[in-house]
Amino acid sequence: ADTLGSAAAGQGRYFGTAVAASHLGESDYAATLDREFSSVTPENEMKWDATEPSRGSFTFTSADRIVDHAQSQGMDVRGHTLVWHSQLPSWVSPLGAQDLRTAMNAHINGLMGHYKGEIHSWDVVNEAFQDGGSGARRSSPFQDKLGDGFIEEAFRTARAADPAAKLCYNDYNTDGVNAKSNAVYDMVKDFKSRGVPIDCVGFQSHFNSNSPVPSDYRHNLQRFADLGVDVQITELDIEGSGSAQAADYTKVVEACLAVSRCTGMTVWGVTDKYSWRSGGTPLLFDGDYNAKPAYGAVLSAFGGS
Ligand code: G3I
Repeated sequence: ADTLGSAAAGQGRYFGTAVAASHLGESDYAATLDREFSSVTPENEMKWDATEPSRGSFTFTSADRIVDHAQSQGMDVRGHTLVWHSQLPSWVSPLGAQDLRTAMNAHINGLMGHYKGEIHSWDVVNEAFQDGGSGARRSSPFQDKLGDGFIEEAFRTARAADPAAKLCYNDYNTDGVNAKSNAVYDMVKDFKSRGVPIDCVGFQSHFNSNSPVPSDYRHNLQRFADLGVDVQITELDIEGSGSAQAADYTKVVEACLAVSRCTGMTVWGVTDKYSWRSGGTPLLFDGDYNAKPAYGAVLSAFGGS
């Protein structure tokens, strides 16, 4: 296997990337995407502000471009994301509790209905827990008005909307064992014990010198898998360069391969030049689409060459 997607497939995993619709017309971008990856996640195009900018009127033009492109290339699509405190259109926050509940469920139904049967995994709820040691939920319109139960309600609505999609909870700074991942763990354990529909947990895995690849990454992925959910690495990027960055990427692939329920990973962009970390170089291809040492490290960790 000589591409990321085919090497990962040899290990029974998908290898994806975040994609921006606005770059699909760039030939080197599309060529690299089409050659290397087996899954895509729209970087912004499925978010609430992009898809339901005013209440009840859905716009899928940009997201459809990505989904159509992926399907034409035989790639899977991850849905990102249904319920998140960020990138909310301004009409959502002022709603009262009952109205907000109705709007949340209508948003889930609108998105998942449009893409029914076409999304392998949905990030149903994104980033609902605080950083730091408290393990508390993050303040958001959903949390503040609906309480802890909004997450359960979102997952139940999502299951009914598209029973074929895997339903994920997705967060960052939960990659190792810490207070935040413990809180997510307790929620998933509770959901499994009460039959709340959840199939997967996404570990964003945005790493840099302040937040390096944790030494207990594999152990943390495994403890979630042991609850009876799949685990996915959903937004991987690692600041750095050269052999140090390559070694960090190797650690991530090895952690996933050591956990049988780690079903795949997604890097958060194709090329350094379009990374959300502006000026950073956290991805596998440089700004000219040359494969970096980290690319070779990932390929060989999956057994490719
Ligand atoms: O849509 C406007 C566009 O109209 C305008 O011309 C342009 C000018 O700057 O801005 C556009 O919006 C930007 C949008 O990306 C699309 O490019 C926003 O300002 C910018 O804030 C937004 O950033 C995204 C960020 O999420 C927002 O929170 C990043 O691209 C995206 O990579 C990032 O992704 C998140 C995940 O969804 C969740 N986990 C963390 C991850 C990294 O922050």
